[in-house]
Amino acid sequence: METDALQIQWYPGHMTKTRRMMESDLRLVDAVCEIVDARIPVSSRNPDIDAICGDKPRMMILNRIDMADPSCTKQWAAFFKSRGFAVIQTDCKSRKGISDFAPALRRLLAEKLRRYAEKGMVGKPLKVMVVGIPNVGKSTFINQVAGRKGAKAENRPGVTRGKQWVNVDQGLLLLDTPGILWPKFEDREVGLRLAFTGAIKDDILDIETLSARLAGLLWRHYPDALRARYKLSPEPGASDFDLLHEIGRRRGYLISGGEIDGERTARVLLEEYRSAKIGRFTLEDPPTEES
Ligand code: G4P
Repeated sequence: METDALQIQWYPGHMTKTRRMMESDLRLVDAVCEIVDARIPVSSRNPDIDAICGDKPRMMILNRIDMADPSCTKQWAAFFKSRGFAVIQTDCKSRKGISDFAPALRRLLAEKLRRYAEKGMVGKPLKVMVVGIPNVGKSTFINQVAGRKGAKAENRPGVTRGKQWVNVDQGLLLLDTPGILWPKFEDREVGLRLAFTGAIKDDILDIETLSARLAGLLWRHYPDALRARYKLSPEPGASDFDLLHEIGRRRGYLISGGEIDGERTARVLLEEYRSAKIGRFTLEDPPTEES
């Protein structure tokens, strides 16, 4: 029997520290820009972020759009807009969407800019805090927006680093938040999605179980893509493990005795999902109606 127990690590101590730091830094900025992974726009958020940010103007950056389902990304963008966020969509690797950042921010803070102009405070820069869970692409985004190569900042628990202001242009400063903003990975479904995308290590679960769960999820949402890549044609009611094993069989991943090499199949499926070789898939459905 396969076990399905998630091994969770949660760092409330670090989160408390980050939260305090953010709350005090919020006083220094005009808006908060939150980066999420467009493939999992909810699971890649910190669960406390809305409470921490209070009524600060907000921007949502849907990143990794190169790997996400374009129609879902569009729906997620509409969803966050309906919640009052300014939204941009980026692929930080190719710089797609990066040039939308400054104009979208100025639109979000148009009222403030107008007040500055009225008071003759021309040239007073807008200050923006950039937040995101580890691995979401925050360093890459900041480097792209600021047009710098920049070394990746330390992003590990226990490693302290100071506040970093990054100059984007004459009127715009970014505050790169120190401290780690954790996702809600003690929630089983959230933990799974973070592991599927590679945001957290595979070892929350044994690799075959993890990969079988991914096979099941993809089969339910994107069956044509799995048919096309792996020639899958499972029996009705096939389990997640049956799907994984069929992928192994189709690929000819066998071990002695003609058994399917489940571990190899599991690694290949995860790798091919994470590098978008199977297709561009979003693993969380946008809400269909306003709730
Ligand atoms: P972090 O600061 O939030 O922890 O994340 P970081 O910028 O280091 O990005 C994590 C990984 O995600 C990096 O890959 C980065 O290149 C990649 N990445 C960031 N944004 C995007 C995007 O929009 N699309 C794609 N496809 N990838 C993105 P890496 O493998 O760690 O390094 P690298 O060798 O690719 O630079």
